Amino acid sequence: MIEIMADAYILGIESSCDETAAAVVRSGEQMISNVVASQIATHKPYGGVVPELASREHLRAIVPVVKQALAEAGKTFQDIDALAVTQGPGLAGSLLVGISYAKALAYALEKPLIAVNHLEGHIHAVLLEERQKGNRELQFPVLALVVSGGHTHLYLAEQRGERWSYENIGHTRDDAAGEAFDKVAKLLGLGYPGGPVIDRLSKHGDPHAVKFPPSQIKHPDRRTLSKAPTPERTRNDGAPAAQQSRPRFDFSYSGIKTAVLRYVETHNMAVSIDSRRRALAAIAKPKLEDYLANCDKQTLDLVTSFQRAIVGDLVSKTLAAAREYEVATLFVTGGVAANGELRETFERESAEQGLPVFFPSRPLSTDNAAMIAAAAYPKLVAQQFAPMDFSAEVGMALR
Ligand code: KG4
Ligand code: ZN
Repeated sequence: MIEIMADAYILGIESSCDETAAAVVRSGEQMISNVVASQIATHKPYGGVVPELASREHLRAIVPVVKQALAEAGKTFQDIDALAVTQGPGLAGSLLVGISYAKALAYALEKPLIAVNHLEGHIHAVLLEERQKGNRELQFPVLALVVSGGHTHLYLAEQRGERWSYENIGHTRDDAAGEAFDKVAKLLGLGYPGGPVIDRLSKHGDPHAVKFPPSQIKHPDRRTLSKAPTPERTRNDGAPAAQQSRPRFDFSYSGIKTAVLRYVETHNMAVSIDSRRRALAAIAKPKLEDYLANCDKQTLDLVTSFQRAIVGDLVSKTLAAAREYEVATLFVTGGVAANGELRETFERESAEQGLPVFFPSRPLSTDNAAMIAAAAYPKLVAQQFAPMDFSAEVGMALR
């Protein structure tokens, strides 16, 4: 990698969903500070993120969170070379809090402002930590699975000079994987967010107890066949995309959520779910023992089988895509990448395929601003700044 700008300090700001975050990152390769204010307590009683409450909480948290990120980095506003903020995708009101604040700061400080796609941020969380470990060797093509509460997306990632570009080769047709974890946890009275709880409970059940049919994509999508460039064409000669159809690797997780609901109904679990919901709601911060004390074997087997099915589907589709596109490196990132079984299964099966796989550390798997500041660094080098009139892009695509 060519070091064009030495020691550029970027202040990243992230407010796309239910975490208000700020971080200082040096030159996309060293995390100096990383502050995340979680809104879990606010949304917990509702079993999911309430957009109006999220915006209000961001407004409350943004100034102290940014100040803390600077203080922990030992930096002042003047020391910062550029600001970076999440433009989308995400909740409109939440995004606008971060964007308005970042614009005001950039204007007042006369510093450049960089707009970052949240999904690109998740991908750069991996790059940031690998560089931090001293690993600068990256074999292309790279395939990145971004798997979070809002996304289950597969991207081929390319780097030309400092510029990164992405091509989507698969996405969820309905629920994202994290959304399925959250909905199933809510359905079973396990609270919010569902992923971390199911992750921990899944060590205590039988993954083969409940059989879930493999997820099926029934309806053809207009994008079912992508006109994707072959990896070779893209890498070697930069020729226009070869007009060669390549299969897509789409996901679907609403069926499995419905199957869990049906299981709950046919096994008359409603009464025990209700008493668990009430018991857990009465505990401020339930521990693993509290969850276990309120879960019978049937529930533990159900969540363990559910997690096994989701993990199996994510891993098999992603590795099939990796084979089809002959990728050299795999990234797995986003909130669900914190899942223990997902990591272990990817590590085991990627190794069998001879494919190196990289994850962010758990704190950088879920939403944070260090990944936004890291993704902004190549844009700073390329002088790719946001115009002052840019706004939030709720459904922002990654290209
Ligand atoms: O990336 P993220 O923090 O926010 C979005 O961009 O959506 O991801 C949050 C999602 C939630 O659905 C949460 O349940 C899930 O990630 N999650 C997990 C785990 N930790 C967080 N899912 C499975 N296992 C985990 N350990
Ligand atoms: Zn995210």
